[in-house]
Amino acid sequence: MRAARRARRGSYAPYTNFPVGAALLAGSGKVYTGCNVESANPRLDICAERLAAAKALASGERASRAILLVGDQDPPMTPCPLCREYLMVFGGGLRVVMANLKGVVRALPLAEVMREPYEKPTRRNRGS
Ligand code: THU
Repeated sequence: MRAARRARRGSYAPYTNFPVGAALLAGSGKVYTGCNVESANPRLDICAERLAAAKALASGERASRAILLVGDQDPPMTPCPLCREYLMVFGGGLRVVMANLKGVVRALPLAEVMREPYEKPTRRNRGS
C-alpha cells in the first residue's frame, strides 16, 4: 500500500485528474510499481496496474502473487477490462487488491475480478 501510494504521486493525469498508483508483488519477492500515464488520445492511456505489470515482465519476472491498486474512487476501482486481460499473464489466481484513499480495501482473485462490473472513475464516484 505504501509503495502504491508513493507511485501514485508520479501519475500523469492532466485529462482526467484521476491519479492511480499500483504495486505488484512478483514471484521473486520484488515489488514493481506503476502509475497511470495519460495521452491526448485516451486510447493510449496507460493504467497504473498495466505499467507495474509491464515493468515486472520487462525485468524478467514471469510470475506474480498480488497487485494492489489505489485511487480516489469510492467504492475502490476495479482494474479496467483491458488490464484484466493483461494481468491474466499471471493467471486467474493473481490476488487483486483494490483500495481507496479512505482505507477501504477489497481483495479478490483475478478470475473473480473478471466477473465484476467496471465503473470508470467519474466526478460522481470520486471519494473526495
Ligand atoms: N485507470 C487506472 O490507472 N487503472 C484502472 O484500473 C482504472 C483507470 C486510470 C486510467 C486513466 O488515466 C484514469 O484512471 C481515468 O480512467
